[in-house]
Amino acid sequence: SNVPRIQPSILAADFANIQDEVARIRSADGVHVDVMDNHFVPNLTFGPQMVEAVQRVSTVPLDVHLMITDADRWAPGYAELGVFSVTFHAEATNDPVALARRIRAIGSRASLALKPGTAVEPYLDLLPEFDQVLVMTVEPGFGGQSFMAEMMPKLRTLRVAAERHGIELWLQVDGGIALDTIAVAAEAGADTFVAGSSVYGAADVDAAIAGLRAAAAH
Ligand code: DX5
Ligand code: ZN
Repeated sequence: SNVPRIQPSILAADFANIQDEVARIRSADGVHVDVMDNHFVPNLTFGPQMVEAVQRVSTVPLDVHLMITDADRWAPGYAELGVFSVTFHAEATNDPVALARRIRAIGSRASLALKPGTAVEPYLDLLPEFDQVLVMTVEPGFGGQSFMAEMMPKLRTLRVAAERHGIELWLQVDGGIALDTIAVAAEAGADTFVAGSSVYGAADVDAAIAGLRAAAAH
């Protein structure tokens, strides 16, 4: 799909009306589903049954973000639901390459997430094993936090390395993405943008999505 891609996070949606909340963002490029386990992060959200339910009613691809311990054990099960993309955290796997290969073999895109304190350099030679890298621009766990502009050098490093490898790597950012921050991330090399509160908190979600797309394209 064309860049920039906007993926609203249903973490900021009304959980009592999830089917409607997913339908409301049909003009987006995907729906971001934050899976949290009260262990890798201090918050608890959805498991595979909820992801399967969202998959059943969504007209846009599912971008599943696993903020869970022991990704090696659990991530392939999410790919088996048939979701578009499965993101696991570098900090939660013993072997990111082996896990990415399993996810790809099942048929989902494999995406590697880096917490703000995690350096990107150890992963640069491994980038052809992934379809996407997620650079967290907040500490994972909660919506509504402030964008960390100090993560932008990671995006620049990843963009250069992806070009060196000659691969089409999607560079995703997640956390504090809004009209005033998205251009900063786009300029640093991001092409795929998760936005929770700035989309679901808007009176007109279609206008919010279109506005983010326009701001990222500048
Ligand atoms: C945070 C989650 C994000 C969150 C973003 O741990 O990974 O996807 O929903 O929310 P905003 O856009 O409000 O920062
Ligand atoms: Zn997320």
